[in-house]
Amino acid sequence: MKKITKAIIPVAGLGTRILPASKTIPKEMFPIVDRPVIHYIVKEAVESGIRDIIFVTSSTKRSLEDYFDVNCELESALVKKGKKSQLELVREMTTWANYYFVRQGEPRGDGDAILRARRLLAPDEACVVMWGDDVIIGAPVIKQMIKLWEKYQAPIVAVEEITGPAIEKYGVIAGKKVAPNLYHISHIIEKPKLEEAPSKLGIVGHYIMTSEVVDALIEQEPAPDGEIRFSHALRDALVKTPVYAYRFSGQRFDCGSKLGWIQANIAMGLKDKEIGRDLKKYLAEFKPD
Ligand code: UTP
Repeated sequence: MKKITKAIIPVAGLGTRILPASKTIPKEMFPIVDRPVIHYIVKEAVESGIRDIIFVTSSTKRSLEDYFDVNCELESALVKKGKKSQLELVREMTTWANYYFVRQGEPRGDGDAILRARRLLAPDEACVVMWGDDVIIGAPVIKQMIKLWEKYQAPIVAVEEITGPAIEKYGVIAGKKVAPNLYHISHIIEKPKLEEAPSKLGIVGHYIMTSEVVDALIEQEPAPDGEIRFSHALRDALVKTPVYAYRFSGQRFDCGSKLGWIQANIAMGLKDKEIGRDLKKYLAEFKPD
């Protein structure tokens, strides 16, 4: 069994839910306190044993490439000023992994973005897929998913319990529980009406992808809006392979939405050694106008 060492992270989306800020700053580069969204996602992958990170980027996401590269000018200025701890902060991510960048010329959907990276996988190689805007705080969920893959040798999606009408924005699974927090998926319904949702378990942006899913992606026709969707490939793969859903524990934030991004800032801000206490006090005393 070949170990999983690669993660594909598509970051070429338009970020329309968070415009106009994302017009010039990639949403993956929005800060959560003092680190960009993508920092947390890559860190989780690396803490899970991933060594090769393949970003699918676009022309407007260059700052993301620079973030994971060495900034000589800044480093030598910090050296001159003797700012050792800041130097460590700007250097650490440059050595976490091997970084590869492929381009998606036009935003033709998250599934199309993954297809741009598929040539970097060996035949039959399984890999991790993570969306560039879905942050989970807590023990690395991808590490737990890789462990499950080692046992089940099949695609795995991360799911979260979603309460109320918010479920209508998710791919929702139906399935049979086969182990604690693990479901064998029978079907997936995309963005169901609340009353038609087959469960409360919505799929979030952490996956283990196998060659069966890649094959289903290659066969995908674009949806009516022209996009190729990863969720459709997952749904189609269900007839060829078991697909599992892992219900993780941890706090997850959809940082591609305004609310999710602000919530992530509050959650991480409260944990921050420097500002946590003051932020807590501020929130407790806050009176809206
Ligand atoms: P999202 O749906 O969260 O991102 O895609 P988006 O398309 O940028 O969002 P909105 O709805 O316009 O606000 C999931 C992931 O897939 C990437 C996104 O960057 C995100 O990480 N993606 C999406 C691509 O790389 N290419 C695409 O064509 C679409």
